[in-house]
Amino acid sequence: MSQETIQLITQITYLISSILFILGIKRLGKTSTAREGNFYSALAMFLAVVVTLINQGVLSYVEIFATILVGSAVGLYIARTVEMTKMPEMVALFNGFGGLSSVLVASAEFWRSVVQEELSVGIVVMVTVILSVLIGSVTLTGSLVAYGKLSGKVNGNAITFKGQHLLNLILFLVLLVAAVLLVVEPSQVLYLYAVVGIALLLGILTVIPIGGADMPVVVSLLNSYSGIAAGATGFVLNNQVLIISGALVGASGLILTQIMCKAMNRSLVNVLLGGFGQTASTAGGAGGQEMVVKEVGVEESAMLFDAASSVIIVPGYGMAVAQAQHAVRELTELLEGKNISVKFAIHPVAGRMPGHMNVLLAEANISYDKLIEMESINDDFANTDICFVIGANDVVNPAARADTSSPIYGMPILNADKARTVIVSKRSMNVGYAGVQNELFGYPNCLMLFGDAKSTLTKVVGELKEM
Ligand code: TAP
Repeated sequence: MSQETIQLITQITYLISSILFILGIKRLGKTSTAREGNFYSALAMFLAVVVTLINQGVLSYVEIFATILVGSAVGLYIARTVEMTKMPEMVALFNGFGGLSSVLVASAEFWRSVVQEELSVGIVVMVTVILSVLIGSVTLTGSLVAYGKLSGKVNGNAITFKGQHLLNLILFLVLLVAAVLLVVEPSQVLYLYAVVGIALLLGILTVIPIGGADMPVVVSLLNSYSGIAAGATGFVLNNQVLIISGALVGASGLILTQIMCKAMNRSLVNVLLGGFGQTASTAGGAGGQEMVVKEVGVEESAMLFDAASSVIIVPGYGMAVAQAQHAVRELTELLEGKNISVKFAIHPVAGRMPGHMNVLLAEANISYDKLIEMESINDDFANTDICFVIGANDVVNPAARADTSSPIYGMPILNADKARTVIVSKRSMNVGYAGVQNELFGYPNCLMLFGDAKSTLTKVVGELKEM
């Protein structure tokens, strides 16, 4: 086959891959089409890798295939064994590796052309190399710190010290100077080392002041960075499919970050400057006032469910911790068997990662069409007999509507309190992520079903079966 034909096939395949990536990301936007979207994207990546390996002057296929084999085996093992609640830390780690790849590929290309072949590369190439190693390095260490905080391997509290922001600013300015010098004198490899070294340090310093609980937002932002770094590497290599896929990851990561911040009523700057996670980690009653709550037992709860004709279930982080989703499915089936309507109200930031509740409920085979988003279900609570809040707290806290002094004031919430009866399943009066007590628990229509969500729900289901 002539070189022109190979080039043509490569470009056409890259085009097909790019279209598949775009279709894939579009389909990932809806739970019902997400699997298909994942498949399209994986196929796109497979085609892009295969055609790149055929087209490029590969030195040794043996090493490449051995690496692919080991990498795929490790990836498959991690993906199959990771617990759902550990997903954000896995994503953080993989983002970091994405950043590292960009640093290695861009540096290798720089090394080959500037150091080995002593070519005079243009300003555009140098700027893209620098962007690639800079963003890739920040992504690498930032993601590793995020992984450490999420997995509890490093202190999850916000680590702050005096002059922190000033230090970051000074380091950034020094980095800029090194970058400009590298563009002017590409043969001075020392400047490249300086850019990489400072960027690695900045990755650590910018993530440590952020509390562990804010990490999902940071992970989403770092995911976006890894895409931008990959896109910049695409410019270095003059590889269109890398530019397009990097741009897609960069843009979607930014949009997701924005959605999360909006749903938490926080600005990105507020998240990045840190501090919020510190308040969140102090469990216990906030506000100082003792709240009088009404407790309900397993048997009484089952009787209330049995007498209802409509139920809305509000799942939250506690359902994930307790792994109660299968018990929730059993409850749903039992209630529907008694002609009771059951719907799920999904808050955009319920749990600790985007789509957390959707994934858990899908894992328990609860049909997608029962999962209704906040805006669509909020008017239905007023006409509902029972709102069953399972392991959710902040996302149903009415203080978000009216209490201007509350840290969650302004956050859009589910109207759980408007239901005729609210049953809340949680272990204690402990606060949720935002660190504030929930006034809903003291409302006259609210009953507290204390205990681990999975074990209490299993008992409720047992009682219901006998009714
Ligand atoms: P939270 O407000 O965090 O409340 C979870 C509740 O679950 C806790 O109050 C806890 O009370 C209870 N719980 C824990 N383990 C349990 C168990 N085994 N059985 C029963 N209950 C248990 O959760 P939420 O309502 O889902 O709100 C999510 C929060 O996370 C929001 O503030 C949101 O802004 C934030 N956030 C979300 C994301 C994303 S993307 N989802 C990202 C960052 C931050 P007990 O200890 O008393 O049991």
